Amino acid sequence: MNRMVKRILQAPYEWMMAPIWRGAAVREQQACKEALRIDDGFDEAFYLRTYPDVAAMVGDKWGTPLDHYFAFGRDEGRLPNEATQLETIHSGYSHSTTEAFIEFTSRCNLRCVYCAVSQPDYVGTDLEIPDIDELVRELRRRGTRRVCVNGHGETTILKEWDTWVGALVDAGFEVHMIGNFARAYKDHEIALFARYDSIQVSLDTMDAELLGQLRRGARLHVILDNMDRIRAAAGEGQGPRMSISCVVMDRNVEGIPDLVDSLMQRGIREFRFCDLVKYPDIPGTLAVRHVSSMESARLRRARDAFLGAIARLEANGGWFWVEPSLEPFLLDEGDEPASSAATADSAVGAKESFHSAIPPGMTRDCLDPWSFIYLHATGAIRPCCMLEETYADVRQGPEDVLNNEKFRALRKRLLTGELDDACANCRARPVTTTGQLQEKVRAAAVTRRPRP
Ligand SMILES: C[S@@+](CC[C@H](N)C(=O)[O-])C[C@H]1O[C@@H](n2cnc3c(N)ncnc32)[C@H](O)[C@@H]1O
Ligand code: SF4
Repeated sequence: MNRMVKRILQAPYEWMMAPIWRGAAVREQQACKEALRIDDGFDEAFYLRTYPDVAAMVGDKWGTPLDHYFAFGRDEGRLPNEATQLETIHSGYSHSTTEAFIEFTSRCNLRCVYCAVSQPDYVGTDLEIPDIDELVRELRRRGTRRVCVNGHGETTILKEWDTWVGALVDAGFEVHMIGNFARAYKDHEIALFARYDSIQVSLDTMDAELLGQLRRGARLHVILDNMDRIRAAAGEGQGPRMSISCVVMDRNVEGIPDLVDSLMQRGIREFRFCDLVKYPDIPGTLAVRHVSSMESARLRRARDAFLGAIARLEANGGWFWVEPSLEPFLLDEGDEPASSAATADSAVGAKESFHSAIPPGMTRDCLDPWSFIYLHATGAIRPCCMLEETYADVRQGPEDVLNNEKFRALRKRLLTGELDDACANCRARPVTTTGQLQEKVRAAAVTRRPRP
């Protein structure tokens, strides 16, 4: 490739900002642009129609739409014409990642009785991060907005966690974390939490003794103190959105109203109630059961108290989410609680397998393989929270791993509705028409905005 063309493509900002143009250089660049105009089939009307933000920007100061395309647009993943746009979409290509999950570690400081971490065959590992700045650059290049800095373990047990997460916060990403907050944090760690966008604290009960038995090693006063310190460090009305993640089971369901009321008094108004995924009991520890195993009158009383608590929460401007598989037990108001119809075995956990037939012309309403990545502590990259298969490895080097054949094939299957069993059976996403999904993918590609 002509050296000047390379320079235009590789250093667009420098090119735009160059203060003085010498006549010969300008003429050479014009010639390059003309050549590229033919190669790319640049369609000015399409470009301005598709990217209204560019239309508002170009003019005397910023040059022509074509100038913008070569200086910025191409690098940002903007497309030069409609045919290229359609071809790109149907090839399963993804320009951007809106949200990234990074599991810095899958090890943990606690051993909650219900968690996979407590199972005897569980092996945790730490993500190898040779260069956090490179990771930041790559996420920025893909236009990522939100980074969730946890997976299965507890991020803050790592010695360098604050350096890595600090780099993400400094780079302007909206940083989110779910954590057990069971360690008494140092002031500089609290100051970093105060700069997060959102935090979810895992807390299942306000009964300190029960908490110690469920989340072995956790002390209630330490968790509450950390939460108070983060809010104080952020300042009144500032700082991260803070919510509670509560796993609902036979041992704690009756105490949920107290959890909600007590935390509301401390200014927490967002709660997520998750269903228990039942793993084998750990000998010598408190055994937990799915709520469906409870005696029906007891479950009905627990449900009524739960409904009362969430009514108070809503009356105080609060917000809650109940995992759909828990709804029959916690939200349905009939006289007969769902437990009488369900056996413990049929209701526990989210890992039941069933088959959904997807009719022709239909597909899953899911953009995750385009806009989301889950980077596991092993280095494996997965396209969503449900698929357990590895699609790429972060150590594979500089090539565009998020557009490798495997990723593209998955996206193409979603676009055509020719789903494999994993997507056909996914319970996280509803069904839609292939046409509607294609339109969503097109709209997402168009509205992709580079980070400032
Ligand atoms: C796996 S943890 C990882 C993050 C962190 N260690 C924590 O506890 O918040 C993420 C969430 O999953 C929940 N969780 C763990 N085991 C679960 C299970 N068997 N069923 C449902 N939720 C579970 C935890 O309570 C926590 O809110
Ligand atoms: S703190 Fe989180 S990761 Fe650790 S054992 Fe408990 S639920 Fe599992």
